[in-house]
Amino acid sequence: MNSHLKRLKEENDAVILAHNYQRDEVQDAADYVGDSFELSKIASEITCAVIVFCGVDFMAENAAILSPEKQVLLPVKEATCPMSHMITRNDVRQLKKRYPGAPVVCYVNTSAAVKAESDVCCTSANAVKIINALDADRIVFIPDRNLGDYLATKTDKEIVSWDGFCPTHQVITLGDVLIKREEVPDCEIVVHPECRPEVIAAADFVYGTGGMLRHAAKTNARHIAIGTEVGMLHRLGKQEPTKEFSALAETVCPNMKRTHLEDAVRALEQKEFLVTVTKDVRTGAKKALDKMLEIGT
Ligand code: 13P
Ligand code: SF4
Repeated sequence: MNSHLKRLKEENDAVILAHNYQRDEVQDAADYVGDSFELSKIASEITCAVIVFCGVDFMAENAAILSPEKQVLLPVKEATCPMSHMITRNDVRQLKKRYPGAPVVCYVNTSAAVKAESDVCCTSANAVKIINALDADRIVFIPDRNLGDYLATKTDKEIVSWDGFCPTHQVITLGDVLIKREEVPDCEIVVHPECRPEVIAAADFVYGTGGMLRHAAKTNARHIAIGTEVGMLHRLGKQEPTKEFSALAETVCPNMKRTHLEDAVRALEQKEFLVTVTKDVRTGAKKALDKMLEIGT
């Protein structure tokens, strides 16, 4: 499989990008594995003709927006993020009427059409920095209410949050944190900002997936329990083989797990599924993504 994939990549001048939540075998075969911010940056900077994006649709869409000259392929058409469907372009228009003058900051987990209505994008890696860099006392934050609540604890600005959430992170409860502390008293608990506020308050550290990897490299803790999608266990275990990692709960993102290695191979063989964004949506969404890359790096 791997030599076939290698040949296909060479023939098509292709690279494989995989999110940190992808299946182990997809991560292992990818050219780059990263968080959503790192992958957006790589997609915009790398020289190649084709990107096979192993993740969910909004991530592949970001790559297509930032690099229209490249062919971006999403191996499984149905791989999507339920949170990104919790807000529409029309909802954003209504919010702008309701809160005139307040910049709209959208989490990258949104459709291109929603990004096109927003002032700036952010990911969990740069959300605090972006919110604090904006010259406004009130900010409309969409669509993740948990990340919005977390941001409100990191700024003096008023954060008006949309009521979206990630179904995968939402399953982690305060009880899971308390049980883990009892079971492994010397463990460090690191959670994603998409978790419920009470889970975040009870954790030791809050990081996006890239931040978790950097934290794992420098902490002296021997056991780290994570509150995020379980694909991170493979990534962390590979990077830090002498440390122990466990998950707070059975947090599987079914959409991230839709892509198997065979799908990435088939994507290159059959050039599917090509991700396209209409020109007017792309122009608006690119502005919001470019602003993120400018102030959030
Ligand atoms: P990261 O930006 O931390 O990789 O997270 C993306 C995501 O979808 C979290 O659920
Ligand atoms: Fe979306 Fe949650 Fe899956 Fe991330 S883990 S892609 S936010 S559903």
